[in-house]
Amino acid sequence: MTKRTIVSLPGDGIGRVVLEETIRVLNAAGFEAEYIEADIGWEYWKKEGNPLPDRTIKLLEKHKIGLFGAITSKPKDAAFDELSEDLKDKGLVYSSPIVGLRQHFNLDVCIRPCETYTGNPLNFIRRGAEESIEEPKVDVVIFRQNTEGLYGGVEWSDPPNDVYNAFLTHPKFKTNFGDTPKKELSVSTRIFTKKATGRILRAAFDYAKMYGYKSVTVCEKPNVIRETSGMMYKMAQQIQNDEYPDIELWNTNIDAQMMWLTKNPENYGVIVAGNMFGDIVSDGFAGLIGGLGFACSANLGEEVSVFEPTHGSAPKYAEYETSIVNPIAMIASACMMLDHIDEKEVSEKIKKAIADVVIEGKTRTYDMMKMTGRADVVEKGAASTREMADAIINKL
Ligand code: NAI
Ligand code: MG
Repeated sequence: MTKRTIVSLPGDGIGRVVLEETIRVLNAAGFEAEYIEADIGWEYWKKEGNPLPDRTIKLLEKHKIGLFGAITSKPKDAAFDELSEDLKDKGLVYSSPIVGLRQHFNLDVCIRPCETYTGNPLNFIRRGAEESIEEPKVDVVIFRQNTEGLYGGVEWSDPPNDVYNAFLTHPKFKTNFGDTPKKELSVSTRIFTKKATGRILRAAFDYAKMYGYKSVTVCEKPNVIRETSGMMYKMAQQIQNDEYPDIELWNTNIDAQMMWLTKNPENYGVIVAGNMFGDIVSDGFAGLIGGLGFACSANLGEEVSVFEPTHGSAPKYAEYETSIVNPIAMIASACMMLDHIDEKEVSEKIKKAIADVVIEGKTRTYDMMKMTGRADVVEKGAASTREMADAIINKL
């Protein structure tokens, strides 16, 4: 095996802890890599006025693969208050460095798999016929467009005149909002491009084909959001017809999907959506397989890719002397990295070790025991972050 270079981006709070444990697991599994730690997060905002320093961008430009923990973001005023005194007159405005990374490197394809671990006490169950209890196996992979749509950042309150006048040319704007004073308007746009829409759709179909999923579901709202959702669905029909005739194309609306996901989650395979609906539907499915302690993700660009758990920095837990959070989401994200760089054997080994620990049920972090997260959970029988990582290492 040739030695890889991975840029590790611990960030803030529990991101630092889960990443450290994940690297221990990767080492124990025999993955040969050099980790170069890059600066990102709140500390660099406070000290330097930039939570995503240029040197971090350069490292990712060079080495292409990033393993990211989590960062802390705070509202505008709080961010300004914590900025170093000598930077306060520089007109700096905080923005999230993970969103910055996605945009800078055009990490437009976000993949969020939600697969049930057998034996996880957090698995979704439902009542079946004759009062039986059913535990449907969920095996869904969400493809979320990661750079455009409602999170594209093109928005205004009290929009500039040019923008306002352009809106006035739309008959619906005139009828529905024409009486509202400009000062009382806030507008967030939902922009889709054919290029990015085509990329996320093809990524979803490719994945379905490669891993044998029978369907790709476009989860949007084309009956109401006719232009953007409509374009995505129309393109999906064309792409399915021309390039993937063996894979079924399904169409669900995001609202109905949130209802169906608890009625019949086992029916879905690959799901593809725009940025915000992808964010929503992936959290929905993650809830069926154990929630934030289990939800992993990949952000893929054409050159650079960054792998991260979907949870944040959970700052209140970062101060505990013994860390209590579940490292599985971060470790599973590292497995996605391994799959991406063709280290499938190591990845399978780690995934099997996680599955073995969960099914055995002897080592469970507080979330798996349905406890409230507090410093004393370890005394009460929950495994610490380190103990969970150790249990996984023991199974390797
Ligand atoms: P969060 O994901 O950090 O925590 C929410 C709650 O989920 C925690 O209080 C804890 O109960 C649980 N949780 C999270 N990770 C867990 C794990 N590994 N094991 C067990 N339980 C876990 O989200 P929150 O509290 O909304 O945000 C905290 C900070 O994180 C904020 O500053 C926010 O901006 C940031 N954030 C960063 C993200 C990123 O780096 N990608 C994503 C989401 C939030
Ligand atoms: Mg989210």
